[in-house]
Amino acid sequence: MHDGVRVSAVAAVAENGVIGAHGDLPWHLPADLRWFKRVTRGHAMIMGRKTWQTLPGPLPKRLNIVLSRRAHEVDTGGAEGVVAVATLEAALAAAADWERAAVAAGRIESPEIMIVGGSGIYAVMWPWVDRFYRTRIALAPAGDTYFPPVDLDDFAVMTATPGVVAVGSPAHVFEVLERRPA
Ligand SMILES: NC(=O)c1ccc[n+]([C@@H]2O[C@H](COP(=O)([O-])OP(=O)(O)OC[C@H]3O[C@@H](n4cnc5c(N)ncnc54)[C@H](OP(=O)(O)O)[C@@H]3O)[C@@H](O)[C@H]2O)c1
Repeated sequence: MHDGVRVSAVAAVAENGVIGAHGDLPWHLPADLRWFKRVTRGHAMIMGRKTWQTLPGPLPKRLNIVLSRRAHEVDTGGAEGVVAVATLEAALAAAADWERAAVAAGRIESPEIMIVGGSGIYAVMWPWVDRFYRTRIALAPAGDTYFPPVDLDDFAVMTATPGVVAVGSPAHVFEVLERRPA
């Protein structure tokens, strides 16, 4: 929770904790990209500069907030819907403003800031995270980026929905975890 606004993490995580390899996702899973789109649609997303560089451009119908210590050097292509900031505080403030405005405009039902990676961003944001959209990928691929070792004891799995497995895609489960009330 940040300033009264729910904070959620969204990540696809392999059995060995891998989330990335060579600046990309180590699997081909269109169903998870659709899930990601559905979950984040309308919301503000906070991402690290390297994750931003994996995208083809700003994801539409949401605010793309890019964290970089050299925010002024981040190439946003002048596109709408992208903002580069140098601090977590600035990222959270921009996200909370967007969420409140989106609720007021009727674009979303309830405010929810989306933390979409990568590794260090999940780690540093974890104390604020109330909800975790975790796609479990039934693979143990080689990789160079891992989901950080967070404490999930305070979380309960609310839903776990097995995805339909297409030819060439790994088995996967869409989970929603919630932090238990203190
Ligand atoms: N499976 C998934 O769900 C998932 C999700 C996201 C990403 N990924 C994968 O993960 C990889 C990219 O993630 P990554 O962990 O390597 O990098 P990242 O977190 O996306 O970006 C790291 C960069 O973010 C900036 N940054 C981090 N902490 C900051 C802070 N506290 N203040 C200001 N700036 C900060 C820095 O940028 P500067 O160097 O510019 O200062 C840092 O170099 C890719 O392979 C991607 O495909 C997977």
